[in-house]
Amino acid sequence: MARRPFIAGNWKMYKGPAEADTLAMALRRALVDVGAVDVAVAPPFVSLAVVGARLKHSGVHLAAQDLHPAAEGAFTGAVSGEMLKQAGCAYVIVGHSERRALFGEDDALVNQKVLAALRAGLLPILCVGETLAERDAGQERAVVTRQLEAGLRGVPADQLPSLTIAYEPVWAIGTGRSASPAQAQELHATIRAWLGAQYPAFVGASLRIQYGGSVKPANAAALLSQPDIDGALVGGASLDADDFFAIIRAAGGRPATAL
Ligand code: PGA
Repeated sequence: MARRPFIAGNWKMYKGPAEADTLAMALRRALVDVGAVDVAVAPPFVSLAVVGARLKHSGVHLAAQDLHPAAEGAFTGAVSGEMLKQAGCAYVIVGHSERRALFGEDDALVNQKVLAALRAGLLPILCVGETLAERDAGQERAVVTRQLEAGLRGVPADQLPSLTIAYEPVWAIGTGRSASPAQAQELHATIRAWLGAQYPAFVGASLRIQYGGSVKPANAAALLSQPDIDGALVGGASLDADDFFAIIRAAGGRPATAL
């Protein structure tokens, strides 16, 4: 497959600066050579600087977990894409299901954030995925394509390949119950077919689709071997350097050869 695998770690609200520095140091030791895999970690905002400094020139990119749609302004507590860019971020996660469910983000706000990320020169990782109730009702395809359609509104086709889509079924996040490789592949194929129908062929062919939801060293290889799964967005297992590295290796990363 021509698409370069992309493994990203979402640290969520774990690891303040001191603990983040320890984890980044452990990652730096493990990841002497990430091989042909793109790797990013998304620590909390307050830990971006320390992780960025520790992982400089390591091949691991810095990502943020969220951004505000405005470039600057009177938005107490918020952080803009432009600020994240200045802080060294390459990527930003947008529309994670926890943001949607716990912080009330709707498709329109997620769309504004995607556009803001691109404006700031960040590479958005747009998360989509259905809840258990939606899957039980047989609506997973409809939900995911609605989230895509709304989330990508106004993004020019030539900018789309700089995006990553993360398919994260909500019922699989943090539950230890991953989607099966076949279940994940089915939705990834749906997403790629949808992209192929909406945009010029190069978009569907080149845009990377990560799977997220209880990815662990034990299930990573089977998930990543599916033809339309181009990487993983990893929560819990990214907080352990050995587990995260095992997942990177499952995507084709090489083991460390020297310190
Ligand atoms: P998990 O989280 O790997 O802990 O299930 C994934 C995510 O929320 O991105």
